[in-house]
Amino acid sequence: MPQDLSTELIHHPYRPPTGFEAPQPGIYKASTVIFPNVAAMRARDWRNKQGYTYGLHGTPTTFALEERIAALEGGRHCVLAPSGLAAIALVDQALLSHGDEVLLPDNVYGPSRELARTELARWGITHRHYDPLDAPGLAAMIGSRTRLVWLEAAGSVTMEFPDLAGLVAAARGHGVTTALDNTWGAGIAFSGFDAGIDIVMQALTKFPSGGGDVLMGSVTTRDETLHERLKLTHMHLGLGVAANDAELVLRSLSTVALRYHAQDAAGRQLAEWLAERPEVRRVLHPALSGSPGHEHWRTTCKAAAGLFSVMFDERFSAAQIDRFVDALRLFRIGYSWAGPMSLVVPYDLASMRSEAVCERHHLRGHLVRFSLGLEAVADLRADLEQALAAGLGALP
Ligand SMILES: Cc1ncc(COP(=O)(O)O)c(C=O)c1O
Repeated sequence: MPQDLSTELIHHPYRPPTGFEAPQPGIYKASTVIFPNVAAMRARDWRNKQGYTYGLHGTPTTFALEERIAALEGGRHCVLAPSGLAAIALVDQALLSHGDEVLLPDNVYGPSRELARTELARWGITHRHYDPLDAPGLAAMIGSRTRLVWLEAAGSVTMEFPDLAGLVAAARGHGVTTALDNTWGAGIAFSGFDAGIDIVMQALTKFPSGGGDVLMGSVTTRDETLHERLKLTHMHLGLGVAANDAELVLRSLSTVALRYHAQDAAGRQLAEWLAERPEVRRVLHPALSGSPGHEHWRTTCKAAAGLFSVMFDERFSAAQIDRFVDALRLFRIGYSWAGPMSLVVPYDLASMRSEAVCERHHLRGHLVRFSLGLEAVADLRADLEQALAAGLGALP
């Protein structure tokens, strides 16, 4: 059949030979997926990875990434979301209905708390916060309306490492599903599923991406029924990720363990150095003794993220601490972590946390969170030293 050039270029008959193999998987881009015939279209099934239905529901590229993330987490099934926060929202929306309650740790990732306070509340879903270091306290809070308990290890900003075994036992004892935000552990420091958790979510934006240039989240399960529930909601909400973003994460994933351990080593060196400084009252890093939950970290983890917070001596004002942060040159001011560049964020605990939990664990005042990039530790230490002098004054 003679064809116009435009038609020929769209329907070109050439098919490259099959059997191509390279270290990196191929990148497939599609909204439309072509079916060979009507019968195949009618028989389509989006539930498993045996075929393709529509770009939103999976391509060879996203399936490949899902399988690798499931392997990283030690789970069986994974779905991808456009950000870590979208992955958190997916879990909430898949599992919670009007009248249900969700329990969040007091040190939960801030936007997850806001999601519960605003959107979930609008849909008639209530939430309360528990002390992540108090498993009996969680057990006592669980009621007939509690459907989901979120866990975070270590928790955001104040870095308490929770009693995972105790918290999971408390939830299990009441038949309540548990979901872990495993962004900190990244599937490397410990296994959420071995700790008995039902759903493991991760912001792939952090360690798996590692470049500070992709936003993505994952939700992994071992349980078939939970996976189907999540997959259905995932489809209803139209969540999907772009092939180029999936490619970037696939590319970085092979080095995730190397980067995790390098940032861990650098983080511990600087955390230990800062802990000895006269300006510093306390360093919050789960691998440092004296940090809240250190004993739980010790019995659960093989490693730690390159992330810690510093509480400065009370003689320094908030303005002085801001001056210190502004004086840093290599640590740049910005959210997120696990990319190549070291980052710093000052926080005011009083505006973020329940007073009682902070009092119980002696967490007070203004603190500064540091996340380690991949710069040389000696350069980062020199940066901290000059900023301490510039922001907090000359030292004895
Ligand atoms: C613990 C934790 N969970 C989830 C997220 C959300 O990830 P994203 O930025 O991809 O939405 C973050 C981001 O900072 C985080 O720190």
